[in-house]
Amino acid sequence: MTLRRSQIVGCGSYLPARVVTNDEMAKIVDTSDEWITARTGIKRRHIAADGEKTSDLAMHASTDALMDAGVAVGELDMIVLATATPDETFPATATLVQAQLGMTRGFAFDVQAVCSGFVYAMAVADNFLRVGQADTALVIGAETFSRILDWSDRSTCVLFGDGAGAVVLKSAEGNGTAEDRGILSTRLHADGRKHDMLYVDGGPSSTQTTGHLRMFGKEVFRHAVTNLSSVVDETLEDVGLTASELDWMVPHQANRRILEATAKKLKLSPERVIVTIQDHANTSAASVPLALDQATSDGRIKRGDLVLMEAMGGGFTWGACLARW
Ligand code: ACO
Repeated sequence: MTLRRSQIVGCGSYLPARVVTNDEMAKIVDTSDEWITARTGIKRRHIAADGEKTSDLAMHASTDALMDAGVAVGELDMIVLATATPDETFPATATLVQAQLGMTRGFAFDVQAVCSGFVYAMAVADNFLRVGQADTALVIGAETFSRILDWSDRSTCVLFGDGAGAVVLKSAEGNGTAEDRGILSTRLHADGRKHDMLYVDGGPSSTQTTGHLRMFGKEVFRHAVTNLSSVVDETLEDVGLTASELDWMVPHQANRRILEATAKKLKLSPERVIVTIQDHANTSAASVPLALDQATSDGRIKRGDLVLMEAMGGGFTWGACLARW
């Protein structure tokens, strides 16, 4: 049986130049490197320069990914950009990237699922490619969370950073088995009853302001491990595989303790988990593609490897994407 698959043919990423260490955070709010490291695993984060926008970060990551893929802008049929921090309320930041890339055909839109945004965007693009409505897609996760942080709230401002990552997907024919290269399965979930556990207290139709991030950290933590391990299992079951067969897990980087607890629940050795939280903090929709780019660039993820991406975020939303590299 032949089946259309979405192959990941290139990765790219971008981090703003300015690095803010935990010691520098301790000059802004009443915190310490010791507290942040012990509770989260974060050591530093990148913060966008004044005037540096989500679309700017996305552009750098996109050109990097297109170059890595050897794909010309003119070949792209679609751009899906995951962000919760768009340049403007509308139009979609994806259209700004489209214009800056010089792409004059196809279509472009944003996906908003906060920290799960990249996994949602991958699932959306994969479906377009599999039904044949597109052949080549650029999928981006880009965020400037520094713009929506309450820099006087130590319980949240220490956790996040800015950045962007992107991948290029191309359709290819597979034989319908788990040995096919490309995306093998995606699973998405949301539970809107938990929307006020992690949210921004502003927006165009409520306060007409941008607002600031608010979070009940313990509740997020409690749900994260359960939701993430169950969606990973679902995604693997779709193709008759088990966690023991995974070469790599590329999780959303929210908190080192969540990463470790999820891996433990899945009985996955810590060496199989790509961890970037120490250097990037939580970059929301950018964290999975940033980690992917790092692990493909340094040679850990290789052709043929079985790679599982997973994320959970505000909404709550959560999901997973299983791919053979
Ligand atoms: N520095 C020093 N002390 C702090 C800080 C800080 N930055 N922030 C909070 N504290 C204090 C609190 O005030 C509290 O003090 P008290 O006991 O005197 O009241 C104490 O530390 C403990 O606070 P808790 O909130 O109970 O700390 P907890 O162990 O739950 O850790 C954390 C907080 C790190 C946010 C944790 O709950 C967590 O990781 N939750 C997951 C949330 C997350 O990762 N969200 C990311 C977005 S969602 C996502 O991406 C999945």
